[in-house]
Amino acid sequence: MSSVVRSAVTGVGAYLPEEVVTNDDLAKMIDTSDAWIFERTGIRQRRRAAPDQATSDLAVEAAKRALEVAGRRPQEVDLIIVATTTSDLTFPATAAIVQRKLGVPVCPCFDVQAVCSGFVYAMSVADGFVARGLSRCAVVIGAEIMTRLMDWTDRGTCVLFGDGAGAVVVEPISGTGEGTDRGILGFALRCDGEKQDLLYVDGGPTTTGTVGHLRMMGREVFRHAVVNISEAVLMAADRASVKVADIDWFIPHQANQRILDGVAKRLGIPESKVISTVAMHANTSAASIPLAFAQGVEDGRIRPGQLLLLEAMGGGLTWGAVALRL
Ligand code: ACO
Repeated sequence: MSSVVRSAVTGVGAYLPEEVVTNDDLAKMIDTSDAWIFERTGIRQRRRAAPDQATSDLAVEAAKRALEVAGRRPQEVDLIIVATTTSDLTFPATAAIVQRKLGVPVCPCFDVQAVCSGFVYAMSVADGFVARGLSRCAVVIGAEIMTRLMDWTDRGTCVLFGDGAGAVVVEPISGTGEGTDRGILGFALRCDGEKQDLLYVDGGPTTTGTVGHLRMMGREVFRHAVVNISEAVLMAADRASVKVADIDWFIPHQANQRILDGVAKRLGIPESKVISTVAMHANTSAASIPLAFAQGVEDGRIRPGQLLLLEAMGGGLTWGAVALRL
């Protein structure tokens, strides 16, 4: 058995803004109801960032908590990747702002833009640095203020999203190259730009000169989600040399409970192995996986040595999955 370097997750942390917005709160603003939203999505409430909070503020809080759990100081961090679709500014990257606010020394800092799949994409990039010996203490963050991209007159989208941030610390660890190793074991990343019109934001610096609002063809997105995600999960598991049946915890992007249930059913994963936070957080895009991950660790369900499967699908369309052992 040969010795290989693996990228181990050594700390997980999360941050949610204080304000809770329930479905009933939304029903006071737009023509909707708790029953409609809950039946179709499983969402009960979401968090909304305060007007003076930017995405980097949420990201910094999540990163601080993940570093604390990992027993690392900001001065030891040598790579920051922020997965976000709601950056503070068009540039610099939110990761550069996070670096300044955390007091991290000069190192590579950049954002990954793959919308809801951003965290999965960012983990694969971090693995590239850590497993090749280019980083000894990477911080990977998913952070979003999705409520700022909403068209609050479009009840078909504005009820679905929320704000938050989650982060992991990734460090090198030696392994055997087998599926029994700790660390990131395999991933699958996909994008089909032909399906851009199903989910996008209708603004940008070089088109409208505005930030824009999120637009979605919900039914079409739903139709692709279960098939695409299942395909990526099987590909990631195969590359990781693990079986889907051996997964301890399935940590999906929290878009919609019906998508979570559909994917789990298709893959034969029992409901008891699925971490679901969609009821409390709604869809926080790139933040939803690390938020759910942190929740599972904090409440004691997810434990060291367990096999985890992270998956997502989002605008692009992008989708993907990561298999890792904690
Ligand atoms: N409250 C009440 N009624 C509503 C609301 C609302 N918030 N939104 C839409 N409706 C109405 C529509 O106007 C329509 O009324 P009509 O029949 O009189 O015209 C009716 O409900 C049905 O609308 P649809 O859009 O067809 O509703 P559907 O059953 O498809 O549910 C939903 C919409 C929940 C968005 C669903 O398509 C879905 O879950 N899609 C998945 C998309 C998703 O989760 N995207 C997240 C981003 S992508 C990702 O992260 C994977």
